[in-house]
Amino acid sequence: MLDKKIITIAIDGPAAAGKSTVAKLVAKALNITYIDTGAMYRAFTWYALEKNVDCKNEEECLKLIPEIKIELKPNNIVLCNGLDVTRQIREPRVSSQVSYIASYKDIRLFLVEQQRKMAQKNSVVMDGRDIGTYVLPDADVKIFQIASVETRAVRRYDENVSKGIPCTLEEIENDVRSRDYIDSHRDFAPLKAAPDSVLLDTSYLTIEESVDKVLQIIEKKTGVTIDA
Ligand code: DC
Repeated sequence: MLDKKIITIAIDGPAAAGKSTVAKLVAKALNITYIDTGAMYRAFTWYALEKNVDCKNEEECLKLIPEIKIELKPNNIVLCNGLDVTRQIREPRVSSQVSYIASYKDIRLFLVEQQRKMAQKNSVVMDGRDIGTYVLPDADVKIFQIASVETRAVRRYDENVSKGIPCTLEEIENDVRSRDYIDSHRDFAPLKAAPDSVLLDTSYLTIEESVDKVLQIIEKKTGVTIDA
């Protein structure tokens, strides 16, 4: 447990680097809230697809903002206009389109406002692409988590298979490469390491080792003792 009143931990990095797995376990160890910002962009994308809106058409996508309500509930449940879309937002059809949605400034501003509110009153571990650079620039701890493309593709493939989501390894690897490119080349709040972030390469680390490293970084940065 942390003894500081409100603490914010930002974990950024490219697609499928294991951020959410690590962030969830870190949040559990610290008994604080985990916020998966990628799930919000995914829920928006799911909604656009449901409405048969072309995710590459910015103007049409922006029109959806007033009619969409995304909620992150306990146990990582994601609601979109009250509907549980937790599973659907992980499907390849959403993954392949989400970077377009995430590149639209007005959609980002709409979701970032909600993300900042969530971190105002509670200690959080928030993962995403722009948390340390844009959403929470004053975060107490910033981690930039990376792993090789091959490692990330295999991890995401295994995760999808275990959840019964149909996909191929090739499809996942292409998706990861393409999302890396779009996420890091967009104009507004692109994926990049904050200058004051700590780089964590998990290519050769187990989940437990990655979590331990993050907890050590948190202890070092905040000066608190974690008895996880
Ligand atoms: O972490 P993820 O794979 O669930 O994220 C889905 C997409 O959302 C990802 O391709 C980039 C985008 N994203 C973003 O641009 N900014 C964030 N803070 C979180 C995710």
